[in-house]
Amino acid sequence: MTEKRVSLHGMWSSRLVFILAATGSAVGLGNIWKFPYITGLNGGGAFVLVYLICIAIIGIPIMMAEVLLGRRGRRSPINTMMELAREAGSSPRWSWLGWVGVVAGILIMSYYSVIAGWAVAYVLDAADGAFVGFDGDSAGAHFGAMVSNPGTLAFWHAIFTILTVLVVARGVRSGLEQAVKVLMPALFLLLALLMGYAVNTGYFADGLHFLFDPDFSKLTPEGVLTALGHAFFTLSLGMGAIMVYGSYMPKKTSISKTIFTVAIMDTLVALMAGMVIFLIVFANGLQPASGPGLVFVSLPIAFGEMSGGLLFGTLFFVLVVFAAWTSAISLIEPAVAFLVENRGMRRTTAAVLIGAFCWVLGLVTVMSFSSWSFSFEFAGATKTDGMFDVLDILTSTFMLPLGGMAIAIFAGWIMQRADTVDELGVGEGAGYRVWYTLVRYVSPFAVGILILNSLHLLPT
Ligand code: PHE
Repeated sequence: MTEKRVSLHGMWSSRLVFILAATGSAVGLGNIWKFPYITGLNGGGAFVLVYLICIAIIGIPIMMAEVLLGRRGRRSPINTMMELAREAGSSPRWSWLGWVGVVAGILIMSYYSVIAGWAVAYVLDAADGAFVGFDGDSAGAHFGAMVSNPGTLAFWHAIFTILTVLVVARGVRSGLEQAVKVLMPALFLLLALLMGYAVNTGYFADGLHFLFDPDFSKLTPEGVLTALGHAFFTLSLGMGAIMVYGSYMPKKTSISKTIFTVAIMDTLVALMAGMVIFLIVFANGLQPASGPGLVFVSLPIAFGEMSGGLLFGTLFFVLVVFAAWTSAISLIEPAVAFLVENRGMRRTTAAVLIGAFCWVLGLVTVMSFSSWSFSFEFAGATKTDGMFDVLDILTSTFMLPLGGMAIAIFAGWIMQRADTVDELGVGEGAGYRVWYTLVRYVSPFAVGILILNSLHLLPT
């Protein structure tokens, strides 16, 4: 099968484009919206530390494994798993891993595009000058009014879904590639600029203390589980997104170097966004633990007050939409690639079909912030946003880490060692052995133990 060097869906035109696409997938709402709010809910430093450790010893090795599988299989995750299992003399039932990924991608997309819709709405608000003179109360009221209006949310959710379908329908080269080239660097620049503003609030020390000074008394079992899940979510791992992007990666590109680059950029963006947001939170007496609205309440206050805020605010939310956009395309790409391969569907038809399905499913999340809201207990924490929280826990806490664990087991135990050596292309030196030990032993056990422990299922 090694002679199959290209994917039928096309290939990335260079190593840089793979990095941009994978970074585009990784950097998204997870970094700018989710990381700050879950860090706030989980008390800061200790949570951040667990998250960083999970990225380093679980996320990065599994990310390499996932790209490796994709590049060797060169097809949608479902077919890739089937072929690689056959190549390794194992059961074709490994294709279920691709199926779970496709389902996880669709579930995540359903709520992801609702939140991205909030950002689209905020682009217009920012441009309209709606944030001028905002304080904590008025910013909170503005956000509250938006999320309690299902019609508005469903509308912006539809706009974002259509944007995503448009790119996916155009395919690898003309669609995905063009979109990520300009947008990622622009996002970086704007975050750096915001950082300049935030540092001037005079709360820099408080921000550093909150994010990087671990207080383990604040770390709950649920927090550990959330940190683990978020490491997968933020790197787009465990559901085939990175696998399918790997399948478009040229054979000569180094997997290890590119993955390090992507993971570092992803982590940097999250930490920068976290810094900016918590500085603004502290400077304005807001609550770090205010939940999913955190970014949408804190940043408008800053934009409403700074000079040039109209321009920067608009630009910022435009970039958030773009970051979400380049992630969303990778959420539905595995499903679309599968329909094209196995059902002989045209790309456009497949993309429209999946998009429409995700939109309908997303109405559940739309209603979660108003009439369908309910609370429940999970691993000792109270969740207040109903079905949105259910979907988030189901996907990022369980489906992605377990999917990632299966990927690690496949790369470490099922595949021929020689094939992984061949695909990673770094020889069999120390670097390879570290990776092999991590995917074979450390990552799968760590995921298993963290999940069981946080759910109190381990004997004590
Ligand atoms: N990594 C994306 C983010 O941080 C979300 C994502 C998860 C995308 C899983 C693809 C697959 O926003």
